[in-house]
Amino acid sequence: MNAKQAAGYKAAEWVQEGMLVGLGTGSTAYYVIERIGQRVAEGLKIQAIATSKASEELAEKYRIPLIKAADVSKLDLAIDGADEVDPALALIKGGGGALLREKLVAINSDKFIVIADPGKLVPHLGAFKLPIEIVPFCYDWTLVQLKSRYNIEFQMRTRDGGLYVTDNGNYIVDASFGVIKDPGALDTELKQLTGVVDHGLFVNIADVVVIGHEDGTTEII
Ligand code: 5RP
Repeated sequence: MNAKQAAGYKAAEWVQEGMLVGLGTGSTAYYVIERIGQRVAEGLKIQAIATSKASEELAEKYRIPLIKAADVSKLDLAIDGADEVDPALALIKGGGGALLREKLVAINSDKFIVIADPGKLVPHLGAFKLPIEIVPFCYDWTLVQLKSRYNIEFQMRTRDGGLYVTDNGNYIVDASFGVIKDPGALDTELKQLTGVVDHGLFVNIADVVVIGHEDGTTEII
């Protein structure tokens, strides 16, 4: 067992019969989907919503019944990874490009559990570049706004020689803010920029963080 698997398998214990569950995205979320899939094979009855096409395919592989968001008003539980976690449980997410669906699922769940290895715990957010999802239309203008407001370095995310396109058809800018002193303030400001769809700051959303260790043990924050 590795640290990500320990965290994912521990968080899967929160899933109870009949729940509506949000499935995260990434290499740690992989393990929670795997473990839930094992429990479904043993008879657990749940329904789930995936936060990316990749996680949807994984859930289908494990025969986890999937529903559409339109069919339910909210979820009981969402479990997802993170790129950084600060002491107040504010997060940077979106390293895997799924931040918008991840945030939608997290804020519409009664409980949001974050799963991570110890390397994700940081005193301040910001060493990890903050992913910002922007609309493709006139995206250069959005970059100009970001540059003029914050004077930071950023890169358009790429894949296979072209611009990275999210599951929602948008682009991602990875922005180097350095130490983010006030994640709540930056969260609000970025949301106000026209052209920005959402960003990877998750402030006051996480309820619990499960940290997995290489020896298979876990701790709950
Ligand atoms: C995807 C995410 C992931 O949860 C985050 O990048 C962590 O991924 P991993 O568990 O592979 O380290 O936000 O958009």
